[in-house]
Amino acid sequence: MPASSSRATTRLYARHAAAADRGRWSVERDVSWDLIDRKLALARPDILAKLRDAAIIESYHPVNLARLIRLTWDDVDAGVVFSLEMYEGFKHFHALRKYLDVVGYEPAITDDELRESRRATARTDLDPDDEIKPLVEFMLSEHLAAYFFRRLGEDAEEPVLARLLRTIAADEVRHAQGASDLLAKRIAADRSNARRVLDAAVHFRHYGELAVDAVPVAMAGDAIAIRTFAGRITRLCGTRMVDHLKSTLDADQRVAPASIGDAHTSSPRTNTSAGVYRLDR
Ligand SMILES: [Fe+2]
Ligand SMILES: [Fe+2]
Repeated sequence: MPASSSRATTRLYARHAAAADRGRWSVERDVSWDLIDRKLALARPDILAKLRDAAIIESYHPVNLARLIRLTWDDVDAGVVFSLEMYEGFKHFHALRKYLDVVGYEPAITDDELRESRRATARTDLDPDDEIKPLVEFMLSEHLAAYFFRRLGEDAEEPVLARLLRTIAADEVRHAQGASDLLAKRIAADRSNARRVLDAAVHFRHYGELAVDAVPVAMAGDAIAIRTFAGRITRLCGTRMVDHLKSTLDADQRVAPASIGDAHTSSPRTNTSAGVYRLDR
């Protein structure tokens, strides 16, 4: 293979574009809208309420991603990763809202409601001196979204919804990997960024909190989601979150490092000020 061709295929944005192409699906053609069992769907208002919140969070992407795109304007790969997220996140919003409309779930999502979820942050920008924190937030939010949709799909008895949620979950795994690759690039360029990634992971907040009051990020007690959350950070930084906390926290601080979910901890419940507790919502 000629050198120029090899370079072209190993570019980060080319790899992500190829992965997005392999995972492509159509809201119009690949969801069996006519086969939805409305009665079965409406029998689970708890699932539909979570779908409603998820749809509103997905609709928030134009605000959140616009800020990320401005922040990382000089990174060609980042622009592509966020552009793909913008399109695929739109499909998630479109498909989830359409599903709720088809089954006749009330209250229906209104455009006014979507505008309201964006209003507070629409004109704001991220700190231009800190790319790491929002990238970590984005990566972990996508990671938790994957588990949220996967678990909801496992719980859903209505077959069209179960399939749709599996499809969306697979997209979210790819999205988390995109952010992870952007962070890996920054760590490779400056090793001190690994410490910033660890700090941001410990203080993680889901960006969806800007759009809805309570983010349905993952099922309570989802030990696998927690372990893999910490595992992502370990793979990126070469250090476990728990070891990072041990090295940075003073002895009299309230946070107990051993309670933070890490690759070797099975406890899904934490009561610390660290971000992992948000998994319990
Ligand atoms: Fe999404
Ligand atoms: Fe996503």
